[in-house]
Order: sequence, then structure tokens, then C-alpha cells
Amino acid sequence: MPDWTWEYEGYDPDAERLRESLCTLGNGYFATRGAAPECAADSVHYPATFAAGCYNRLTSEVAGRLVENEDMVNLPNWLSLRFRTGVDGDPASWLTPRTATLIDHRLSLDLRSGTLERHVRYEDAEGRRTLVRQLRLVHMAHPHLAALRTEFTAENWSGDLDVEAAIDGAVTNAGVARYRQLNGDHLTHVHTGSAAADTVWLRCRTSTSDIRIGMAARTTVDGPLTQTSDHHSDRRAAQLLHLPLLQGDTTTVDKTVALHTSRDPAISDPLRAAVDRVGRAPGFDALLSSHRTAWRQLWRGAALDVAGDAGRILRLHLFHVLQTLSPHTADLDVGVPARGLHGEAYRGHVFWDELFVLPYLNLHFPEVSRALLRYRHRRLEQACIAARDIGRTGALYPWQSGSDGREETQQLHLNPHSGRWLPDHSRLQHHVGSAVAYNVWQYCEASGDTEFLHTKGAEMLLQIARFWASSAAYDESLGRYRIRGVVGPDEYHDAYPDAKEPGLDDNAYTNVTAAWVLTRALDVLRALPEPRRRELFERTVLDKGELDRWEDISRKLRVPFHAGVISQFDGYGDLAELNWDAYKARYGDIRRLDRILEAEGDTVNRYQASKQADVLMLGYLFSPGELRELFRRLGHDLDEQTWSRTVNYYLQRTSHGSTLSGLVHGWVLARVRRAGAWKFCREALEGDIADLQGGTTGEGIHLGAMAGTLDLVQRGLTGLETRAGALWLDPVPLPELSEYSFALRYRGHWGVRLRMRPGQLEVGVPPSDRSPITIELPDRAVSVEPGESCRLTLRDH
Ligand code: BGC
Repeated sequence: MPDWTWEYEGYDPDAERLRESLCTLGNGYFATRGAAPECAADSVHYPATFAAGCYNRLTSEVAGRLVENEDMVNLPNWLSLRFRTGVDGDPASWLTPRTATLIDHRLSLDLRSGTLERHVRYEDAEGRRTLVRQLRLVHMAHPHLAALRTEFTAENWSGDLDVEAAIDGAVTNAGVARYRQLNGDHLTHVHTGSAAADTVWLRCRTSTSDIRIGMAARTTVDGPLTQTSDHHSDRRAAQLLHLPLLQGDTTTVDKTVALHTSRDPAISDPLRAAVDRVGRAPGFDALLSSHRTAWRQLWRGAALDVAGDAGRILRLHLFHVLQTLSPHTADLDVGVPARGLHGEAYRGHVFWDELFVLPYLNLHFPEVSRALLRYRHRRLEQACIAARDIGRTGALYPWQSGSDGREETQQLHLNPHSGRWLPDHSRLQHHVGSAVAYNVWQYCEASGDTEFLHTKGAEMLLQIARFWASSAAYDESLGRYRIRGVVGPDEYHDAYPDAKEPGLDDNAYTNVTAAWVLTRALDVLRALPEPRRRELFERTVLDKGELDRWEDISRKLRVPFHAGVISQFDGYGDLAELNWDAYKARYGDIRRLDRILEAEGDTVNRYQASKQADVLMLGYLFSPGELRELFRRLGHDLDEQTWSRTVNYYLQRTSHGSTLSGLVHGWVLARVRRAGAWKFCREALEGDIADLQGGTTGEGIHLGAMAGTLDLVQRGLTGLETRAGALWLDPVPLPELSEYSFALRYRGHWGVRLRMRPGQLEVGVPPSDRSPITIELPDRAVSVEPGESCRLTLRDH
């Protein structure tokens, strides 16, 4: 069914990396890019496999400085499978798009089954045509297994075909051009061997994190086979097969692979576990069938029906979200990697992007959200150390997080336009802590998991609130608390023009979310059962005086205004206006205005020009009512006109240099029922499939934007909030996306169905012995019993 498949016809070297990212297969534990098995990494192809949370740290010298970076490691390439028609031992005779003629090439990604099919016809120098059909999977039920079936048909010849099925350990992290001057050699102690007549293995370690990796590959043939032999080299475990092909006949080669690392529970050693697992794995057909069943179950839990092209794209986004964060993630100690497990951009690091991901997961796979929050909780101590290191108290979560939760943001970044390495101040985005707190709160509201809220959740909220309180300094002259020296979500601005020190003052997004965190932390502490409150107060040495201060700060944090709009930060309105038309005319695409201006010897810090939504993020996180209440608490009347003026103001001053920006703008405009919303929603939908950020998707998908588009339908358009034990709905119309339905898991109700049509909303609650669900609309409340559904006519739609 075309709605469930993505096809790429023809071979296009320029598009290959993008297709590899979009055709990545994964299961939350590991993922493998949709690369051609017969090709090694080169300027066109980048086969790569990443296991969630598998990082390694290396030192490199750039611009005369030693810098340390932690990367998600590119693991040995299990996919490798080469073939040649002439048995002449010449390495150049392996058939690849470089060495032979590619007559046909088609990739077909089947989202329903989680498989990638490849259809290739090669012609060699002697005119021998060989049809190669491949089907691969990364198993969704058995997270350590993957499989590749290859069918060879000699179309116009008979003779020997050499096939080499290998595990290639001679891989490095080399997928991102900007990082190539950095050390990417992460694997060491590579050993290869054979475990049985049909099984080869490779084991290795990451050089500094000392993660041991074991891979085993079993290769079997259905068809005539004259000989097999093992050809191991230092870094490559290979099995060579000679297949006597008869014209028109098809021979099938199945390669089944197991991957374990020393991070896995319940194993003795990774190599042994991989060899055992591959030895016990059933044949390809059985694996395919159990894999399909697992995907069927996943799709049931995440049902989302949106008509037309948008629906097709949303399904692809959902597919990649589920491949990165699957039910298997619930067993892992991992965070939300900004670029999925699909590429090396941002080194597999964890940013604030979970803010765009967890709200979606909360209502489908709450156990996955909980695990992702536990990743943060395990690193709470590290965050407290980071706060102490800069003279504060509480928890300062890192802007970029990896293995142990220390700050992983690079010290220098390369501007490819100017070739200069520049200091990176994005670590001043302390607002990431508010994202963690927001997710704790949202998760607990959606799932009703008070056990988490009262234990780990409360600990995180408390320490994040404490950090904000210790960051806020009272300014007598203003009668307000100020948080100074930070960077907001718009990371173009990292300093005042000509300032010696980086950082900005009174970032509105930072301050309003900080006020929200302080208020929520107070709420949670009040609601704790007495013994637990006491325990927490004792353990964290919290007292009434500190809480009084939180209360005061939460009401008096400064939110700057200028020209009748909320200022992104103090002084934003004094910056120069950019001549947007002139820059667009000169450069065309000006999304990365920061790089353009730096290469011109200027700096974006001088201009009222933002990379992405910053103030407007407030309209993404909070419903209009909640936002108004937050501002009221801070002593401001945020009426509709002020918000609408603010939206307009930043709309004209944003270059959308992040995929998150289109999403937030689309969401915010839709919520204020403004024309123009669809253009941004469309941009968010097309961000990766059309590679709108100029070549970045080939380095990994943009997971936050992908999940955000799902949430745009789920919460943005419906106005869905989970609060005070009810489902609050306040749908807004978006004519281009007006009919949709989806299923939710809400507080123990599995498969709550919401169906939206213009002017009408239907809610169905599946039969169970649970309590009814209260639906709160702006003008009425209804209660829906399990086993019942109700149709609600929407006023003012
Ligand atoms: C955005 C950040 C985001 C990061 C990782 C950057 O380009 O500006 O907001 O967290 O990408 O996705």
C-alpha cells in the first residue's frame, strides 16, 4: 500500500546519504543506516551501525588546541556483503556502482513491516547481468538481531558468483564532514574468528569507555554452493562463498547477525552472547514473521490516521521515532539522541530535544518516557556537581549530554563557510533544565505515575528549581530577580555585541520557564506524603526559608518588554535591524545566518535576527490560559493583543536555522488561529524528507522535529492537555489538516480513540474496569465510561 512505503527509484550518488538516513532500520537498541551492503564508507556511501548509549571519548588537536569530544560510536559494519562475477581475486572486481554498470536500482522502505527492500541489477565488463534482491530487518522483537536476505539471479549467464559476507571492523566515525579533522578512531583490540562452519565473529572495544562489543554473523545458502571458506584479516571477519549460478536460477544467501555489548544486562560476555544468540536464531522467514508481528503491535499502540500526504509523512516520522525510542528503550540507560540512531551529527548527544519527544511518548509508551527520565535522574548528581562548579546550588543539566551526564558541548565549532574554529558558548543554554522538569511534570500528569513524581521526579524538580533560585539575583532598582549570562533557545545570540564575556541577561524563555519550575516544585513538595516530604527535606537540607525564596522568585523574575512585545532578552530591541531582503537576495538560503555573517567578518549578535523560536517557545509549551496565568503571577497582563504582537514581531526576525523552528511556529500560529500556520507545519513535515536544512539529514534525522510533528496533531491541534486528572481539549482548526484520528494510552486505558472532523470530536474509551475519563472542553465537561464513546459538537470551530 503506497501509504506505508517509501520508494527511491534510481541511483543518485548525491542523494545517497540522505536515503541512507531515511532508510535506516533500528529497534531502539541499535540501528543501521540504509546503505548498500556491497559498498564501504566513501564520499558517497556511509554504512554505519549505532547502539543506543554506546559512547567513546577522544582527544583531538584543532586550531592549535587539544579538545575532547565524546561520540556515539560507529560499530563494526555487519551489513557488508560483496559479490563478483569473475573469480579473479582482483578487489576491483567486486560489483559496486563504481566498478560495474548499475542498470536498475530501487529502494523500498516498508513502514508497516519495518523492512528495507533493495532491487539492483548489475552488468559487469563482460556484459553479465545479475539481479540482486535484498530484504533486511533490524529485529523489533529480538533487539540484538538483524538479518539480510540476498537473492542472486544470473539473468543472461551461467557461472560462478563469489559472495563475501563480512563483519567489517575497519570503521571509524567519519560521517560528518565538519568533524573530519577530529579523531574518529574509536575501536581497538579488534579480533576475528569463526564459531561454526557458517558463523564468523568479531569482537572489539571502544578505546576509552572500554565498552566491549561482540558481533557474530551466520551465513547460509539456499541453492547450489561449491565451497565456503573463512577469510579473516585483522579487522574483518569474512566468509567467502562460491555459488555456481545457472542462467535464470535464483540462489538465496541469508545473513543473520547478533550484536551484544558489555552494557547489556543478563549476559556473561558480549562475544559469547552474540555467538550463542546467532546460533539459536531461527531462519530468515521465521525472523521476518516475528519481526512483522512486533511492528504490528507497535503500530497498534501508536495508531495515527491522517489523510493524504501529511499522513504519509507523519507515518514516516513515527516510524523513525519508534526505531530510535522503542519499547526496548525502557530497559536501557539512554537519553533522546537529537539525530536519532541514524547518523553522527551532534555525536549522538542528548539536548533539550526531549521536550519535543516525551510529550508524544507519554501518551503511547509511558514506560519509555519513564526510562528516558531515569537517564536524567541517574545523572542528577553530575548535574549538581556542574552547578557547584559554577558557584550555584541545585542541578545544572548539561546542554549536551552523553554517557555520564557531564557537559559534552564542544569547546570549538567549525564554521564551514569561513573555515574558522570558533568558541562554542551554547553550553550557556541552562534552560535545558526546565525541559527536564517540564517532562517530569508532563509524564506524571499523563501517566498518573505518582510513585515516580514523589520519588525521582520530585528530586529532579527540587534540584532544578534550586538551581534557578541560586541563579536569580535580586535587583533593587528593578524590584525584580534577574538571571544573567545565559543563552536562550535561539543560539545565534550568545553575547552582547562587543562584550568580553558571553551570555545574555533576562532571557524571557529562561525566566518564564524557571518561574514555572519553581511553582511546580513548590506544588509537588506540598503534595508529598508527609514521611516522604520529611525525608526529602532532610536529605537535601531544604527548609522553609528556601521555599519562601522560591515563592518570591517565582513571582518576581524579570520578563523584559520593548515596543509592546516580550523581549527575547534584555536589550534585544536595541540591536540593529538586519536587511533580510538584501541577505536573501545575496545568499538565497539564509537559515544559517550566523555562519554567513561570521564569514563576512560580522556577527549575528549585532542583529535582531534569531535562529529559531525563543520567546515563541512559550506558546508551544503552555496553553494560552496557562501562559496568561504564568504572566499574571509574574505581574504582567499578557492579553491576546500583546501575544499576537509578539508572535508577529519574531516571525519577521527568525531565519529558521533549526528544524524545531518551523514546528514551533506552525504550532503557535495554529493555536492563535492565524493564517500562515500551514506553511510552517508543512516545513516541519518536509524538514527531513526534503532535507531542508541543506544536507544535514544525511548526517542523521532530526528526531525532535519528527516527534514534534506527531505531537502537533496530538496536542497542538486538539489543544490536548492532561491535567488535574482529566483530558482537556480545545481544538483549533487547521483547514489543511482537519480530519484525523489517533489512539492514546491514558492512565491505564489502552487505546482511547480520538477522532476529529471539522466541528466534531469523537472520543471512544475501550472496555475495562477502570474509572471513566473526564473530558473537559472550554464550554463543558463530559465523562466517558469504559466501553462507551461520545460525539461532541464543537462550538466556534
Ligand atoms: C538547535 C537546538 C537543538 C540542537 C539539536 C540545534 O540546531 O538550535 O535547539 O537542540 O540543534 O537538535
